[in-house]
Amino acid sequence: MLEQERNVGTQEEFAAHIRNGLCQGFGKKWINPKFFYDRTGSCLFDQICLQPEYYPTRIEIEILKRYSKDIISNLKCTSASMIEFGSGSSLKTGIILEQFFSQGIRVMYFPIDISNAALVSSVRRLSSEFKNLDIMGVSSEYLKGIRKICSFIDASSRTPKKKVMIFLGSSIGNFEPDKTRMFLKSIEQYMQTDTDDNLFISFDLEKDSHILELAYNDRAGITSKFNLNLLNRINNDLGGTFNVSNFTHYARYNKTNRRIEMFIVSRYDQKIHIRDLGQTISLKKNERIHTENSYKYSRQEINHLAKDSGLVVAKEYLDAKGWFDLVSLSKR
Ligand SMILES: C[S@@+](CC[C@H](N)C(=O)[O-])C[C@H]1O[C@@H](n2cnc3c(N)ncnc32)[C@H](O)[C@@H]1O
Repeated sequence: MLEQERNVGTQEEFAAHIRNGLCQGFGKKWINPKFFYDRTGSCLFDQICLQPEYYPTRIEIEILKRYSKDIISNLKCTSASMIEFGSGSSLKTGIILEQFFSQGIRVMYFPIDISNAALVSSVRRLSSEFKNLDIMGVSSEYLKGIRKICSFIDASSRTPKKKVMIFLGSSIGNFEPDKTRMFLKSIEQYMQTDTDDNLFISFDLEKDSHILELAYNDRAGITSKFNLNLLNRINNDLGGTFNVSNFTHYARYNKTNRRIEMFIVSRYDQKIHIRDLGQTISLKKNERIHTENSYKYSRQEINHLAKDSGLVVAKEYLDAKGWFDLVSLSKR
């Protein structure tokens, strides 16, 4: 079953964002990273996850394989609704779902993703892999999706009331710090103490900047393709005239702000016409378009973040190197 928000990723929303983001002055141009995920972008992200330099996926799988038995048995329930934010291909989720099944816990799975293409293919794959899985994909922004799912859970007598929410891939790092707090506070509103609802979020921890920079500059150039695909999306969806070979990918670690910053850089002075906006954008040689931040956290910061949002860190699951932290959060 698939629920689709009418407005997700519509041309109008994309056009309005590009008009605002690319019509800024020198050094201020930006594109929200949520627009990476058209069909091609979602496929490229799956390929990024396979690159040897991209440790987050490998390490998160290691954590889930090691601890998911413990995580699921600690839920102490006989049925649950599992809600996933930004589920993408849901590959890692399979590890958790397997545990629900092997521990005899009835689960209904609600993946939320802005990428309809990724959602459709993951719902199909999981439905054939787990024959008895109840699944309802919601093609939506995170917060619209959770609102819709919680109303559905409240209204349906057959749907498990206990909520287990998961946010993997360290995607929370793409929010600016103030937005992270707002997001957690919003999610906290949907957590109930009588059903002992849980929230699991993975955070990428601070580490050697060389390791971080390699992860966003893989040798096969997949992250570069992923980043530059935004220009293809503007060409395809809005009638842009970007020549992608006139741009380069640039990602570096900003030690002051403790985040990976990703940019598209113009190789020349150039003008781009975007038909659907009726606008021409000028870019100077070496001018950057900011496309993503990925914040890296300390465990102490995660604790503060939880506290500020009315949550407590119930347990942390780390990999052997201490690079990644899957945090179990409960309502205070
Ligand atoms: C970095 S990928 C992570 C995918 C998967 N969770 C994983 O760990 O491999 C981020 C996913 O979140 C989705 N996404 C990004 N921004 C979103 C938003 N604002 N609302 C809903 N989904 C979003 C993307 O389409 C993509 O599938």
